[in-house]
Amino acid sequence: MQTSETSAIASRAGMMDHDSRIYVAGHRGLVGSAIERELRRLGYRNIITRTRTGLDLNNAPAVQAFFAQERPEYVFLAAAKVGGILANNTYPADFIRENLQIQSNVIEASRQAGVKRLLFLGSSCIYPKLCPQPIKEDYLLTGPLEPTNRPYALAKIAGIEMCWSYNRQYGTQYLAAMPTNLYGPNDNFDLNNSHVLPALIRKTANAKAGGAREVVVWGTGTPRRELLYSDDLAEACCFLMKLDEDRFSSLLNQDVPPLINIGTGEDVTIRELAETVARVIGFDGDLTFDTTKPDGTPRKLLDVSRLNALGWRYKVPLEEGIRRTWEAFNQRSLT
Ligand SMILES: NC(=O)c1ccc[n+]([C@@H]2O[C@H](COP(=O)([O-])OP(=O)(O)OC[C@H]3O[C@@H](n4cnc5c(N)ncnc54)[C@H](OP(=O)(O)O)[C@@H]3O)[C@@H](O)[C@H]2O)c1
Repeated sequence: MQTSETSAIASRAGMMDHDSRIYVAGHRGLVGSAIERELRRLGYRNIITRTRTGLDLNNAPAVQAFFAQERPEYVFLAAAKVGGILANNTYPADFIRENLQIQSNVIEASRQAGVKRLLFLGSSCIYPKLCPQPIKEDYLLTGPLEPTNRPYALAKIAGIEMCWSYNRQYGTQYLAAMPTNLYGPNDNFDLNNSHVLPALIRKTANAKAGGAREVVVWGTGTPRRELLYSDDLAEACCFLMKLDEDRFSSLLNQDVPPLINIGTGEDVTIRELAETVARVIGFDGDLTFDTTKPDGTPRKLLDVSRLNALGWRYKVPLEEGIRRTWEAFNQRSLT
C-alpha cells in the first residue's frame, strides 16, 4: 500500500498513485474485469469504465470526446473482439476490422489526451506458428502465422507497431503485453466462440449433468498449451503499470518493439487439460478426440524471463484455477 508520501513521489515521477485517473477499456471482459478488481484491491480510487452501450470503441469521435472529458492518465486497453478458432474462421473480417478500429481509436485518443502510460493487451498468437519454444519477444515477425487467427493476430501486431511508433514519434510510454492463453471466472463459456478451457468446462459440465458417458474433445489432444489464471494476469498488468520510471523505460527501448510476454512458463497437453477438467468436475466417463477438427498451433509456450527478471511470477496453480473457474461457472448457471 502507498503512503501519502510515496503517493506524492509517485505522482511527481509520473507513476500511478491511488488518485490517478485510470481507464480500464473492456472492464466487463475476462481480462478487464480482473484488472479492475486488482486495481480496487490495491486501493486505486479513480477507476473509469464504460460499457459498450455507453461508449462504442469502434466510434472514433465518441472515443475522442470521452477522453477529452474524462482525461484518463493511465489506460489498460483490454477491449477487443476475441474468440476461439470457430469464431475467428467464421468472422475473419470482423476480427481484423474491429480490433484495428478499437486499438487505433484508443491509442490516438490517449495521445491527444496526454495519457502517461498505456498497456495494450495483445495475445501470444502474434508469434509465428512454428517458432522455437519457449517463445521469446524477439521472435515477433520471424515467420508465418497460424492461419486460423491471422486477421486477429495481424491486428494485434499492428497494435504493437502503433505503440512503438507513437513512443518514437511522440515520446509516449505505451507498452504491449502479450499474455498466454487465459482463463478465469468471467470467461466466455459459449461453445460457438469460446477458447479451449471454457469450452472443455462447458462440455464436461453438460455431459455430467446429462448423464453422458463421453466428452468429445476437438483435435488430437497432443498440442501443448500454457494457461494463466486471469487474476494472475491482472496482477502482472498492474505490476507493469506501477513500475518505477527506470524499469518501465527499460521496456521501451526504441530499437525493439515495446513488448513483454506474460505467462507461467509451463505448459500441458490438451489431453492433460481435459483430464484435469474432468477430475475437477467429477466426470468419470470417457474422453474421445475428434481428429477431423483442427489442432491449431502444436505448441505455444512463452518465454517469460523478461517479466521474471523484473520480479513477477504467477501464483495460481492450474488445477486450483480450474476449480475456481468451475465454481464461478456453477454459480452463474444457478442464477
Ligand atoms: N482470453 C484470453 O485467453 C486472452 C489471451 C491473451 C490475450 N487476451 C487479450 O486480452 C484482451 C481482452 O480479452 P478478454 O479475453 O478479456 O476478452 P472478452 O472477455 O471478450 O472482453 C472483451 C471486452 O471488450 C469489450 N468490447 C469489445 N468490443 C467493444 C467495443 N466496440 N466497444 C466497447 N467495448 C468493447 C467487450 O464488451 P462487451 O462486454 O460489451 O462485449 C468486453 O468487455 C484482448 O486484447 C485479448 O487479445 C486474451
